[in-house]
Amino acid sequence: MTRTGSTLLDYVIQPTALTSGTVCVPGDKSISHRALILGAIADGRTEVEGFLAGEDCRHTLAALRSLGVSIDHVDDVTVRVDGVGMSGLSEPGEPLDFGNSGTGMRLLAGLLCGQRFDSTLSGDESLTARPMQRIIEPLSLMGASIDSDDGRPPLLIHGGYELAGIDYALPVASAQVKSAILLAGLYAKGETSVMEPAVTRDHTERMLKLMGANIESDSGRITVQATGQLNATKIQVPGDLSSAAFLILAALIAEDAEIVIRSVGVNPTRTGSIDILREMGGDISIESPQLLGQEPVADIRVRSSALHGIAVDSSLVSLAIDEFPVLFIAASVAEGTTRFSGIGELRVKESDRITAMAEGLRQMGVNIDESEDGAEIHGGELAGGTVDSHGDHRVAMSFAVAATVAKAALRVRNTDAVDTSFPGFSAVLGSLGVNLSTERADQQ
Ligand code: S3P
Repeated sequence: MTRTGSTLLDYVIQPTALTSGTVCVPGDKSISHRALILGAIADGRTEVEGFLAGEDCRHTLAALRSLGVSIDHVDDVTVRVDGVGMSGLSEPGEPLDFGNSGTGMRLLAGLLCGQRFDSTLSGDESLTARPMQRIIEPLSLMGASIDSDDGRPPLLIHGGYELAGIDYALPVASAQVKSAILLAGLYAKGETSVMEPAVTRDHTERMLKLMGANIESDSGRITVQATGQLNATKIQVPGDLSSAAFLILAALIAEDAEIVIRSVGVNPTRTGSIDILREMGGDISIESPQLLGQEPVADIRVRSSALHGIAVDSSLVSLAIDEFPVLFIAASVAEGTTRFSGIGELRVKESDRITAMAEGLRQMGVNIDESEDGAEIHGGELAGGTVDSHGDHRVAMSFAVAATVAKAALRVRNTDAVDTSFPGFSAVLGSLGVNLSTERADQQ
């Protein structure tokens, strides 16, 4: 994603010894999106605490307001959604802009197929390049009418079509596609089933259940029935493990540090990166586990550890899908070789994450071989210099963490997108002693 305007925000990070401490991360992005979307079509007021006020969720919030939902952003982390009920959304007067957010666009597309009115869904340069055929196909099978630019946004969803339930085997493991189908299923005649090729995050299912929908999961098949009503509820959003992952790695690779990250979501459909880092030798413990509403939450304690290379089990890919950029950094400093396979989906994220990471790691002197759906990384020392994030928040934060143990200062170019998921990232790293400054630099 390239921002409009002539300057981009760069990070300049000096190699710094991480200090020990206790930190928090912002609310979970996936759960924050779902709280807004399901709250919007529920009956009554949904109070969301711990909301992630990052750019992605702000776009979804604005889109729902355009659809006639009254949402009060009480303070940075508290949002009140006055639900309009299952059939209370109204025609937006303008295209809905989802910015950088695939989750916002794909989930809302599912919901909007079941409405009486037309809507247009657009996004930024990065989102406009992302594949939408994966939702267009199942939603069309349900009876929806969607125009696209050859399977890419913008999407024009024609309202007024009757939807019917389908029994659909997902060709790719994707929680966004699964969720789009389930949301359309709330408006479809009969039963809608989705079969997953691998388990993906189940926040939609948990929240729908909490709000009273008739939804069941059994051996990888999720089935939802049409519903006339969802019940508003209070939703407490845990800290985002995908954001915590950057701090977990920073602590693991530090010389001598111990950190605790408080109240992080540890839903088992999200914790693949913890399994992978532990297998690499990482000392990570899950403390004080509890249920926050429908989601498991815990404190995560991390101690500096000597990491070693592994062959990453491809069955963990969908459980760690957003953490591969930071896992590539783990592999780059680990002793020996780490092999990643079955990670082709990374090529259609906010950037082509395999190539973006490989390019930056090579700049830092790392020996990495990339294949269509994998990578082999030979651990060693990291040099300083300049790398480009390609406008991808997770690539930017991964390199910021790598820089803490580099031999010289690292400039990470084009980091504005960090605000999509982790507002305050540089301040949190700063609180752990990392010397990170920001500079506005001309686009090249
Ligand atoms: C998400 C699902 C994943 C993930 C994204 C958030 C969600 O995307 O990468 O950051 O909230 O459902 P895919 O469904 O494309 O794998």
